[in-house]
Amino acid sequence: MAASAAELALMTPINPISKFSRPSSKFATLRPQHFRFRVSASSPPAAATAPPKKKKANKTEIKESLLTPRFYTTDFDEMEQLFNTEINKKLNQDEFEALLNEFKTDYNQTHFVRNPEFKEAADKMQGPLRQIFVEFLERSCTAEFSGFLLYKELGRRLKKTNPVVAEIFSLMSRDEARHAGFLNKGLSDFNLALDLGFLTKARKYTFFKPKFIFYATYLSEKIGYWRYITIYRHLKANPEFQVYPIFKYFENWCQDENRHGDFFSALLKAQPQFLNDWKAKLWSRFFCLSVYVTMYLNDCQRTAFYEGIGLDTKEFDMHVIIETNRTTARIFPAVLDVENPEFKRKLDRMVEINQKIIAVGEGQDIPLVKNLKRIPLIAALVSELVAAYLMPPVESGSVDFADFEPRLVY
Ligand SMILES: [Fe+2]
Ligand SMILES: [Fe+2]
Repeated sequence: MAASAAELALMTPINPISKFSRPSSKFATLRPQHFRFRVSASSPPAAATAPPKKKKANKTEIKESLLTPRFYTTDFDEMEQLFNTEINKKLNQDEFEALLNEFKTDYNQTHFVRNPEFKEAADKMQGPLRQIFVEFLERSCTAEFSGFLLYKELGRRLKKTNPVVAEIFSLMSRDEARHAGFLNKGLSDFNLALDLGFLTKARKYTFFKPKFIFYATYLSEKIGYWRYITIYRHLKANPEFQVYPIFKYFENWCQDENRHGDFFSALLKAQPQFLNDWKAKLWSRFFCLSVYVTMYLNDCQRTAFYEGIGLDTKEFDMHVIIETNRTTARIFPAVLDVENPEFKRKLDRMVEINQKIIAVGEGQDIPLVKNLKRIPLIAALVSELVAAYLMPPVESGSVDFADFEPRLVY
C-alpha cells in the first residue's frame, strides 16, 4: 500500500500538478464527468551504527488512535471460496494471467537504490520539521508494511485454490516490503528504526470481511497513488522544497501502487455481487467517506509537514480526494459528490471539532471531566459524518457492468 496501494489503478491520465496549485475555488468548477491511511511509532534514537540487538532494547512505542494506520486481517476461508475457479465462473483467468505477467516483469526491481544524498539531507533537517518528517516516515512505513502482511498471507492462503491470484498477492507483498524497507532505511538517516518484527506481533489487527477488504484496499492503493504522484509533481516543479531525496523516487514507486489498484479493480469485477446492488452502493460511499475523512483529519494535524515541502495541506488533500474519487468512480457503483463545495465545508467543520477533541485530551482535567467534555464534540463529529454520507451521491461504475441491469435506483 502507499498510504496504500489500493489507490493505484487503472487508468486515468494523470492531471498535471499545476492544476492543484490553483486557488481552491477551482474545486467548485470540477464537476464529475460521468463516467466514472498507523503507528505513530516513535523509536527512541539508536545510534545508526548500533548492532541490531540493541534495537530490541529500544522497542518501538506505538501511540494508537482511531486515525493511526491499521493492520488488517480477513476471513481467509471465504477468500478461498471467492477465488475458487470451480465455484466462481466469472473469474477471468486470462485477465489475471496478464496481470501476473505485469507483476513478474518487476519494473522497479532496481529502482530503490539509495545514495549519500539521503543522510546529508537528513542531517540538514533540524527542529520541528525534522520531528514531523520522522513521523511521516514512520506512518508511511507502517502503512506499507501493513500491505505487505496482508498480501503475503493472502498469497499463502490462496496458493491451492487459485495459484495465479495467489502469486499476484505474493508479488504485491514483494513490492510493499520494498517500499516499507526503503522508508525504514530513510529512518536510519535520522538514527531511528521501526522494529517491524515487534510491530507485527504487538499491533492489533482489524478484521474485515473479504468484501470490505476489497473496498478498503482498493481505496487505500488509489489514494496512495494520488498522494505520491501529487507530491512528486509538486516537488519537480518546485525543487527548492525538495528537502529529502525520497520524494524523487515517488514517480516509479506510485506506479507500483497503481498496479496494485488495477489488480483490486480486476478482483472486484470478478465479484460483481460486491458492486451491483444497493448494498454495494451504500458500502462504497461508506468506505470512500472513511478513507477521505481519515486522511483529511490526519493531514490537518500535520500541516507543518506539508507546509515544509511547500504544499497547502487542505488544497493538497482536496486534490487527492477529488482525483481518487474520479478514479474510484470507474469501478465503485456510487461515490461521494466530493466536488460539491459543501463536502469540503463539512470536512473543515470536522477538522475544527477534531481539534477541540484533541485539546480536551491534552487538557488538565481528570479523565471523567474529559469524557464529559468529549460527548457533545463526538456527537457533533458524528452528525457531520452522517450529513456528509447522506449528501446526494454520484452514481458511477464501469460500463462493463451495464449487463447487470436492472439496478436499484434510489
Ligand atoms: Fe500498494
Ligand atoms: Fe506500497
